[in-house]
Amino acid sequence: MRKIEVMINTIEWKDGKVVMLDQRLLPGEEIYREYSDYEEVARAIEDMVIRGAPAIGVAAAMGIALGMQSTDSNGEQEFDRICARMSKTRPTAVNLFWAIKRMKNRFEELRHLPLDQIQAGLALEAQQIYLEDIEANRRMGEHGNELIPAEAQILTHCNAGALATAGYGTALGIVRAAVEHGKRIHVFADETRPFLQGARLTAWELHKDNIPVTLITDNMAGYFMKQRKVDLVIVGADRIAANGDVANKIGTYSVAVLAKANQIPFYVAAPISTLDLSLSSGDQIPIEERSAKEVVEIHGKRTAPEGIDVRHPAFDVTPNELVTAIITERGIARAPYTESLRKFVRSG
Ligand code: MRU
Repeated sequence: MRKIEVMINTIEWKDGKVVMLDQRLLPGEEIYREYSDYEEVARAIEDMVIRGAPAIGVAAAMGIALGMQSTDSNGEQEFDRICARMSKTRPTAVNLFWAIKRMKNRFEELRHLPLDQIQAGLALEAQQIYLEDIEANRRMGEHGNELIPAEAQILTHCNAGALATAGYGTALGIVRAAVEHGKRIHVFADETRPFLQGARLTAWELHKDNIPVTLITDNMAGYFMKQRKVDLVIVGADRIAANGDVANKIGTYSVAVLAKANQIPFYVAAPISTLDLSLSSGDQIPIEERSAKEVVEIHGKRTAPEGIDVRHPAFDVTPNELVTAIITERGIARAPYTESLRKFVRSG
């Protein structure tokens, strides 16, 4: 069995600091940045130095632990301030709020202790979230592998890989697991306009792992599906509502519609921390609207006329009826999702 090591260090807690690979510079440069201030971590999340739902959650947890390292009181107000700042960074990925909640729960347990023990406990909790994420991805990979034929052409959108998580990936974790099981896998990576996570990140990390990948622009997906060149689609998620509606990178909905029209299975891979059962449907998921600059510029070069109207919803919602199955670390959920997802959450 071929073993794929977690080689990409998306984020790390190192000597009381947070170290992150600056994803904005990939694939051109591999630069690691060191953070010693929680405000800088919050800005790194906003600017997409780090991105991808689970990775955002890990970064927020580490940012909170980091912020508490430099407090000198017992820190209750400071803790609330740091958590409030982190929760304003990006609105769609629920892993952010999940991670903040976990840090809050841990703080509740630690608050009666001396400050140095609170600080150590929060740092450990953040690292625990990091480790659990990798473990969840490995398990998700094993479950997802059951759905992958011995030879498969898999289309993915955005980047739901090692870079979007603490390591190994969700959608790309399943690809990695299938490769580890000796399957012949070829991936079509959608370029993913406007921020190009597919071209810059998915293509980069698959190529690094020697997994065959073909980059296509988003508008080529239908062409290859119609030619029967795509056997299945796997994407990640930023938030999944109780009914199985899935918020993910803008363009995911279009891919799901195309998959349905071509009778191709459309799978979503996501950890339990991406489920938001407090929302009954995807209509309630907040959709981040990012800067128009990301649409009218490529690498700082303007590609559209000045003064025009631009929209930039960064995510869309795929209705549950287009989702063949949702792969989690606790197993594979199928419709009706209201029941299957609730069962998985309760089994934790
Ligand atoms: O804007 P991004 O790059 O943070 O969006 C990322 C995605 O949409 C991913 O598909 C999703 O977060 C899942 S990552 C495992």
